[in-house]
Amino acid sequence: MTQTLAQSEPERPPAREKPKWYRRPWIVPLFAVAGLFVAARLPFYLTFDTGDSLVELQDAFPETHYLMLSGHILFGSIALITCSMQVWTWLRTKHPRVHRISGRLYVFAGVVPAGLFALVVSVISVVGPAGKIGNVLLSLLWFGTTFAGYLAARRHDYQAHRRWMIRSFALCWSIVVNRVWLVLLLVLLFQFEDSYYGGDTDVLVEDAAVASIWLSWIVNLMIAQWWLDRRPKHRRRKRTATKVGAEA
Ligand code: HEM
Repeated sequence: MTQTLAQSEPERPPAREKPKWYRRPWIVPLFAVAGLFVAARLPFYLTFDTGDSLVELQDAFPETHYLMLSGHILFGSIALITCSMQVWTWLRTKHPRVHRISGRLYVFAGVVPAGLFALVVSVISVVGPAGKIGNVLLSLLWFGTTFAGYLAARRHDYQAHRRWMIRSFALCWSIVVNRVWLVLLLVLLFQFEDSYYGGDTDVLVEDAAVASIWLSWIVNLMIAQWWLDRRPKHRRRKRTATKVGAEA
């Protein structure tokens, strides 16, 4: 009888070891890329010199456009750094207070101001309507996912908090991935510069810019959703063990 009870007892997942910083090796390249992105862009938008802007400014109001970009990139940098801190398991479990503080910084010193400036620069950008719509939608989704995650944490629903914040992270990082898509698309489309574009480089560049805006956040969101829906390894192992046990 004792033996039957012991046999039918559900198998527990193996006890999880305490996470150490090196158990998440991707955290190092993540911080490196975030740091490099900020270091490569932010300085150009803190000089108060419109000539330093890396994006084309509106002829009618270059100073205002530049100031909007400066605000956006300053707060966007805070968002990019703090959201990278939030997904670091070691920091979250060892220093939950730091996680809470950097989480609030992400929402209120990152997403809220950077997102509001993003809405403005999306509309006034020199890119055409298809690109503007893609960026406005990205800003709105960034607000939506972040606030859903913030409110879930406030009501102590940490599963929902994790899910919404992973989506918010994917949207925040889409801005870095955007630059990779842009380069890939330019390389691809330049193959058709004469045949399809009839030598019109401006149209080619606009197409690449618009496609990279949409692709960057849609693909990132799809990857985030796949990540959330995948079955964790220990549950997969448990299921296989139960199946083998049942068959034996
Ligand atoms: C997720 C929501 C975001 C949206 C919708 C957004 C939108 C935009 C738009 C429309 C522009 C102007 C582009 C142009 O006129 O051609 C821009 C520029 C820029 N944004 Fe964002 N952005 C977002 C997040 C971020 C974040 C988190 C950062 C992090 C630092 C960032 C960094 C930049 C930089 C550096 C530029 C200047 C362009 C460059 O030099 O590459 N953005 N953004």
